[in-house]
Amino acid sequence: MSPTQAKEHHGAAPPPVPRLLPVPGSPVRTHPDGAPDDGRPEEAGAVDPAGAEDAHLVDADVPAAVGRVLDRVLDERLARAREMDELFAEDLAGRVAGFTRAGGKRIRPQLLWWSLRACGGADPATVSAALRIGAALELLQTCALVHDDVMDGSVLRRGRPALHTDLRARYATAASTERAGRFGDAAGILAGDLALVWADDLVAETLLDPATAREVRRLWSDMRTEMVAGQYLDVQGQVTASHSLPRVLRTACLKSALYSVERPLALGAVLAGADGTTLRALCSAGRCVGMAFQLRDDLDDVFGDPGLTGKSSGSDIREGKPTYVVALARARAAAAGDHRALAVLDRSLGDAALPPAGLEEVRAVLESTGARAVVETKISRLVAQGLRHFDGALLDPEGGGRLRRLLRSAADGGTGSAAAPDVPGVRGARR
Ligand code: IPE
Ligand code: IPE
Ligand code: MG
Ligand code: MG
Ligand code: MG
Repeated sequence: MSPTQAKEHHGAAPPPVPRLLPVPGSPVRTHPDGAPDDGRPEEAGAVDPAGAEDAHLVDADVPAAVGRVLDRVLDERLARAREMDELFAEDLAGRVAGFTRAGGKRIRPQLLWWSLRACGGADPATVSAALRIGAALELLQTCALVHDDVMDGSVLRRGRPALHTDLRARYATAASTERAGRFGDAAGILAGDLALVWADDLVAETLLDPATAREVRRLWSDMRTEMVAGQYLDVQGQVTASHSLPRVLRTACLKSALYSVERPLALGAVLAGADGTTLRALCSAGRCVGMAFQLRDDLDDVFGDPGLTGKSSGSDIREGKPTYVVALARARAAAAGDHRALAVLDRSLGDAALPPAGLEEVRAVLESTGARAVVETKISRLVAQGLRHFDGALLDPEGGGRLRRLLRSAADGGTGSAAAPDVPGVRGARR
């Protein structure tokens, strides 16, 4: 997103999507890094005809199909890691692989898949590429989450100790608490880096025609950079205690909406060879639903059940994150001259030792100022606005229907409640 586009995002409507070129099909196949397909045997982990999947079988359970690709790729990466060093393989590579295999909701590969199917993609080579890039999205997610938990000081992820706290605990008796903590953070950085490297390799090793490869490469590059930009704005906003609503929305867009929803949809459309109009409709829908997805995540942090979210309750408040719902509560309290509400927010935000009763007070302020209700309404509007972008788009009726239902469920909480009964494969966070 350019600065201009980001600026335009300050209003109610998400910013316009970047212009993407139509993707004409081409019979010539290359790797996304531009190297021509020279007919040599594929590297281990590249497109595996033996593992080729039928589109209709994938339809029945997308997370399982992505999981099969991840299993093959991770087995191969782990074998290579063991050849390098047993300790590295066991401590770090094994944890990265285990975290990724266990997975969460696998929403990003599902969005990619149903975007592909909505755009009519079904031939075996495309199916294989889509599953591999879906698997790469999950590896990118591992990078994002492992680094995020170090940055946010979060100890719980997907219902288990966060990866850096797990490694810290593994060496707790070997060093002082402070040194073990610093070791855990360092190991978390390396683990996230490893996941990113594996993700990038997987994309680079996926065979695609040249035009598609070019678009995938561009989307992939932008997506990673946007996420880094968003995460930077997030921690910078925290340290400066910024409460600017436009700034908070821009952060949510960059750190989450794009890589969680818009870019996966764009990748699916590009892989299917969708025309420019369809691609733009999917991107616009993805931008809106992506924003709704992050606003829901912010609400879940305060009001969600950790048993369902797999994350600690109130961690954004204790960290002093200027999330949208909190920034809105502050703005509304200030406008209404509600000094009591402002005092609660001032003393609670960033209080790492905030007790449950203090968190309860913050919840009450988010309710009494109307911020929670306003955010709920905004989420519903964003989803409706997003789905309206499909009006007039030429989508496959079955694939388009599944995609709509998945998009609706994506903003429903990302927990058990995300699993609309008619959307197979949307899974809650692991408990
Ligand atoms: C969590 O993403 C990080 C955000 C961008 C909010 P998910 O809610 O998709 O997490 P998993 O992959 O299901 O655990
Ligand atoms: C996460 O935002 C965004 C990325 C992981 C890139 P959050 O910090 O809100 O995500 P959770 O709530 O910890 O999953
Ligand atoms: Mg976090
Ligand atoms: Mg974060
Ligand atoms: Mg969050």
